[in-house]
Amino acid sequence: MRISVLGIGYVGAVSCGCLASFGHEVVGVDVAPDKVEMLARGQSPIVEDEIDRLIAEGVTGGRLRATTDIADAVANTEVSFISVGTPSGPDGSVSMRAVDEVVASIGREMRGKHSVHTVVMRSTVPPGTAEDRVIPMLEQASGKRHGAGFAYFSNPEFLREGSSVRDFHAPPYTLIGAAPGDDGAVLREIYAGVGGAVHVAPYRVAESVKYLANAYHAVKLAFANEGGAILASLGVDARAAFRLFCEDRVLNISPAYLTPGFAFGGSCLPKDIRSLLALADQANVPAPFLNQVLPSNRAIIERSFEAIVAHGRQPVALFGLAFKQGTDDLRESPFVILAERLLGRGYDLRIFDRSVQVARLTGSNRAYIEREIPHLERLLAPDPAAALEGAGLAVLGHIGRDDRPALLGALRAHKVLDLAGIAEVRDRPGIAYQGLCW
Ligand SMILES: NC(=O)c1ccc[n+]([C@@H]2O[C@H](COP(=O)([O-])OP(=O)(O)OC[C@H]3O[C@@H](n4cnc5c(N)ncnc54)[C@H](O)[C@@H]3O)[C@@H](O)[C@H]2O)c1
Repeated sequence: MRISVLGIGYVGAVSCGCLASFGHEVVGVDVAPDKVEMLARGQSPIVEDEIDRLIAEGVTGGRLRATTDIADAVANTEVSFISVGTPSGPDGSVSMRAVDEVVASIGREMRGKHSVHTVVMRSTVPPGTAEDRVIPMLEQASGKRHGAGFAYFSNPEFLREGSSVRDFHAPPYTLIGAAPGDDGAVLREIYAGVGGAVHVAPYRVAESVKYLANAYHAVKLAFANEGGAILASLGVDARAAFRLFCEDRVLNISPAYLTPGFAFGGSCLPKDIRSLLALADQANVPAPFLNQVLPSNRAIIERSFEAIVAHGRQPVALFGLAFKQGTDDLRESPFVILAERLLGRGYDLRIFDRSVQVARLTGSNRAYIEREIPHLERLLAPDPAAALEGAGLAVLGHIGRDDRPALLGALRAHKVLDLAGIAEVRDRPGIAYQGLCW
């Protein structure tokens, strides 16, 4: 396939060398003449393992060339990969200047083309870029319709500098953001030499994943560095502790706890974070990252409370009171905090939680709830229908599978605020539904 790569920095240069090695006919384009001259001479403009050889072989084999002339490159290729920089602007938001420039140039050049041109976004761009920015710009500049006159894919790049050629050949997966019904056949053909799974997703989802991935990697590093510093200050072999921590593939290194939902609570997580932070304090180890965890959790409760208030004053049915479904542990439950906030504001509240029976609560659990919500019995409903009777708003925290048919059966003109992401409710027609986390 004939491919133009627009922007030959770290991502673009690796794409040029690797795509040419797959047998594609590649032209690299950049506004920086020195990079273009180097690539044209068969030299890599960046330092990376193996890239010098791939680029040299591409150029001597006649499969790779370079130019500063974007019009020529787009006119003479079928596919354009965009890999220009998207640096931070002064306020931290992404600068789309280079993306806009190349998109406008591609669009202008597509106007004179008779064949369908394919545009692929490899640069990291915010969710919404395809549908709200690039596709409309391409349509306007080319006078063609997306899906008829040209194709557009979002195809985030997951390579890491230092091992980028290896990563190009063995990505965690190939992610293709595409229009509904499009399976990304062009990209599948281009990447035929690349291993791993291929996932096709809506544009916005594909665009989000790279942001999530980089944010998560940064979170992992901050966690490891702060956690390590606290442990080291206590005389602990932090690397040994982290090695064992990482061996737990059930809860630690796993998808566990990575489903967006409501705040955490219970008798362990808040207590043990506080305790770790106290140890850090005593040892004078700064832990700004871990210090933000409980405020972040509290902000989720606050956001949910504000969402309830925004629905207006009306009786509320809250589903879920224990910190999670299937337990009666109420200690530091975010739902107890939410219920307290509502009661404090004078809301008429009914609560359904199958696992919570006041008569059976004992010990510190009982003491906690008697302190936080006295007379809880009066608020508890025996079943979903009783909780919903007279209520205007149903707030879904958690509810067991066995009780969901009764909940669905009893929902009538109620508005629903879903904190948990309960698919049966979201997908039921005729419900005034608001989801806070999905
Ligand atoms: N570097 C990485 O490891 C990495 C990994 C994955 C994704 N990304 C993303 O890929 C994109 C590119 O990153 P990079 O590190 O290769 O950037 P880079 O700064 O190394 O390269 C960008 C290139 O684009 C060129 N350019 C700017 N405006 C241009 C224009 N109008 N026409 C043609 N070329 C133009 C620049 O001269 C430069 O050579 C960014 O969005 C980045 O976030 C980077």
